Parts: sequence; C-alpha cells; structure tokens
Amino acid sequence: MNKTILLATHNHNKVKEFQEILQPYGYDVLSLKDIGYNKEIKEEHTTYKDNAIAKVEALEHVYDGIIIGDDSGFEIAALNFQPGVYSARFMPEYSIKERNQAIVEKLKNEDDRSCAFVCSIACLKDDKLWVTINRSFGTVAKEVEGTNGFGYDPIFIPLGYDKPFSLLDRSIKNKISHRALAIEALVQYLENS
Ligand code: IMP
Repeated sequence: MNKTILLATHNHNKVKEFQEILQPYGYDVLSLKDIGYNKEIKEEHTTYKDNAIAKVEALEHVYDGIIIGDDSGFEIAALNFQPGVYSARFMPEYSIKERNQAIVEKLKNEDDRSCAFVCSIACLKDDKLWVTINRSFGTVAKEVEGTNGFGYDPIFIPLGYDKPFSLLDRSIKNKISHRALAIEALVQYLENS
C-alpha cells in the first residue's frame, strides 16, 4: 500500500510535480486543499531552508503523519544570483511571461548566462526535522519559448540540453530538476529512517 505525505503548498503546479515524482516510489501526495487547510503560509525568511522549515512547522499540530514543505527559486549569475529566494515576488507588476521577457532583455549582451534552479525540502516525521537543498544548473535562454511547466521554465535550459524545460518532455524535468534531486534525497531519507 502507498504511503501518504502531506505537501505544505497551495501551488497546484508543485503538487502535480511532487505527485509525478513521488508516486513511482510508492508515495501519495496530499495537498493543503485535500486536508481543507485554507490559510496562507508566508515565506518570510531570507533562506530557502528556513522558508521550507516554516511551512512544515505551521502544520505540525494540524496533521499527524509525514509533512514536507519546500521553497524554491531561480538564480541568475549575471544578476548577482537574483531573483533567488524572492523568485515568487520578483517584478510583481509583471505577468510571468513579461517577467521572463524582461530577464532575457536584461541578459541581451551578457556572455555569462549561467543560472540554477534551487529547491529546499524540509520533512517532519515522527517529531524529527530533516532538510535538504539541491540545485539544477543550466543557462538562460535567448528567447521565451514553450508552454510546458510553469514559472521560469521557458527560459531555463538545463545543462546537457539545447531547449528549455518548457519545450522538453516533462518526464525529463521530473528526472533532472532541482525538485527531482531534492525528492530523491527525501526518499533516501524516508527509506532509511
Ligand atoms: P516558491 O517555492 O513557492 O517560493 O516559488 C518560487 C518561485 O520560483 C515560483 O513562483 C516560480 O516562479 C519559481 N520556480 C520554482 N520552481 C520552479 C520550476 O520548477 N520551474 C519554474 N519556475 C520555478
């Protein structure tokens, strides 16, 4: 029988990716919606790790079982690793498409296009807290293309590929992304604890 994990998020794109990656390992993912939790959990910290921990701690007394929380972001070397931990709130006046276009424009004459997606996952199991942080490296695309995925996927070309996540099959993203690497570490932890 599959084991169940509560994921502390209201973001349905994340729930979908966690489900797709965790199901083959024998885990079912519940979202906050599934348990009727409607409150927002704020990301008030300055590190991915602290935001991920805050998410699981907010649910400690609400759910009795394995709880995971994540925080992720996009780091661009030429922009001093911005937007980083503030990725969800970067250029809030723009739609995500306009934001991606603005980033491509900013990097128009830049040779160093290196960037990374980051994912930290915190897990609370049997009163024990565990955390991981993982990066998936790539380069910023020269144009905004494709519709697969979400957020900055249309401008992130993973190392070893010549297309952004938004044009690659989602099974590829689910193997090599920051989230996939962090989930792999999580599964190792859960299987050995
Ligand atoms: P948070 O983890 O909810 O704080 O999200 C941070 C932001 O980073 C998201 O709103 C997205 O814009 C971006 N982000 C995180 N993971 C991904 C991803 O897998 N693809 C594209 N953008 C992402």
